[in-house]
Amino acid sequence: MYKDHFEYFSNNKSVYLDNAATTQKPIQVLEVMNDYYTKFCANIHRSNYSNANKATTLYENSRTYLQEFINAKEKYELIFTKGVTESINFVATSFVKDNFDTVIISTLEHHSNIVPWHMQGRTLHQGLEVVNCDENLNFDLAHLEELLIKHPNSFVSIAHISNAFGKILPIKEIVKIAHAYNAPVLVDGAQSLAHIKVDIQDLDVDFYAISSHKTFGPTGTGAIYAKEEHLKSFKPYQTGGATINDVSFERSIFLDSPYMFEAGTQNIAGVLGFHEALKFITTIGYEKIHKEEIQLYSYLRKELSTIKEIQFYTDIKDSIGSLSFNIQGLNHEDIGILLDKQHVLVRCGHHCAQPVMKYLNIEGTIRVSIAFYNDKYDINKFIIALRKAIEILKD
Ligand code: ALA
Repeated sequence: MYKDHFEYFSNNKSVYLDNAATTQKPIQVLEVMNDYYTKFCANIHRSNYSNANKATTLYENSRTYLQEFINAKEKYELIFTKGVTESINFVATSFVKDNFDTVIISTLEHHSNIVPWHMQGRTLHQGLEVVNCDENLNFDLAHLEELLIKHPNSFVSIAHISNAFGKILPIKEIVKIAHAYNAPVLVDGAQSLAHIKVDIQDLDVDFYAISSHKTFGPTGTGAIYAKEEHLKSFKPYQTGGATINDVSFERSIFLDSPYMFEAGTQNIAGVLGFHEALKFITTIGYEKIHKEEIQLYSYLRKELSTIKEIQFYTDIKDSIGSLSFNIQGLNHEDIGILLDKQHVLVRCGHHCAQPVMKYLNIEGTIRVSIAFYNDKYDINKFIIALRKAIEILKD
C-alpha cells in the first residue's frame, strides 16, 4: 500500500530489495525538487530578490526540520554535505587528523569509514584499532574498553547499522564507555534514518553522518551533525564562496558554523527534497515503519531458513534492513544474475565492506535489504526466484 506513494513502483514491476544501496523516492520529494528548478530556481545566501530569498528560507527551514527530526540542540550543529562519505571525510580531515593518536572502528565498517583512516597513514595497530565481535558479529563492548585503556588518545568511529548484515550497534553504550575515556564518537548513520528514530541528544554522540538517498531523499545530499563544543576546533574542509565574512589579499575571516563549512553552491534542490523525505517519514511515523519492518525481516529470515543449503552469518537479534547469506556450493554473483533475470533486485558482492568479508573468509554475500514499503508479496516472489536460481545452478 505504501508503494502508491512512489512513482518508481508504477514504472517498475521488479521486486526492489536493494534499499541499503539506495531507497526509492516518494512523489512529493520529486515534486518539490521540480518546483525549485521550474518555479523559483535561484542561489541561496547571496542575492536579495524574492526567488533567492525564498530559496534561502526553504533551505534554512530544511536545516531546522532536520535539527528537530534528530533532536539536535542547535541548528548550527548541522552542516549539509553531499552524503555520509563526505561527512566522514570531513570529520577525519577537519577534526581527527592532527588531534588523535588512534582511531577505533568496528569489524562491520563500510569502506567509507576505513579508507579515510588509511589515507591518514593509519593502519591496523598503528593508529587504527578494530573492536572484536562475536560469532553473530555482535560488537564486543569489553574489548572497546580494553582498547580505550591501551590507547588513551582515541577517537571512536562506528556504524549505527551494518550495511552488509543489518546489525544495530549499541551506540548508547559505546558512547558511554568512550566518553569515560574522553574519546569522542562519530557515528556512520547511513543505514539508520530509513529504519529507526535517532535522538542525537539521547545518544550523546559527538558526530553523526546522515544520508538523504538512503532515507527516501535524493542522491548527492546528506549532513554531518557536529556537537557544539567541537565546532570551535573544527577547521573548514573546503573553502570558497559563501563561507566568508571578509576577505582581503592579506587574510580571510570566516562566517560561523554552519556557513563556514558549506563552501560553494550547495545541492539546494537535494536539501529541499531531503526535507520532504523527512516530512514523509514523519507522516507515516517510525513506530509504524519499525513494526512493519521487524515483521517482514523475521518473515524473510523464516522463509530463507527453509532452504536447506542456506548459510547465514548472524542471528537476527538487534538487526534491521539488510540480511546477508550464501548458498553453499554456489557463487553469490551467479545467483544475483539469475535473480535479476526473474525481476528480483538485490545486491550480491562485498557491499563495500571487504574487511568483514575477509574476517568471515568469504568473497561476498547475497544481500536482501528491505524498506517499510516492501511486503510479503516481495519476499515470496524473491524466495521463488531464489529457489529457481539454485535449481538451475545445481543442474
Ligand atoms: N553503501 C551502499 C550499500 O550498502 C551503497 O549498498
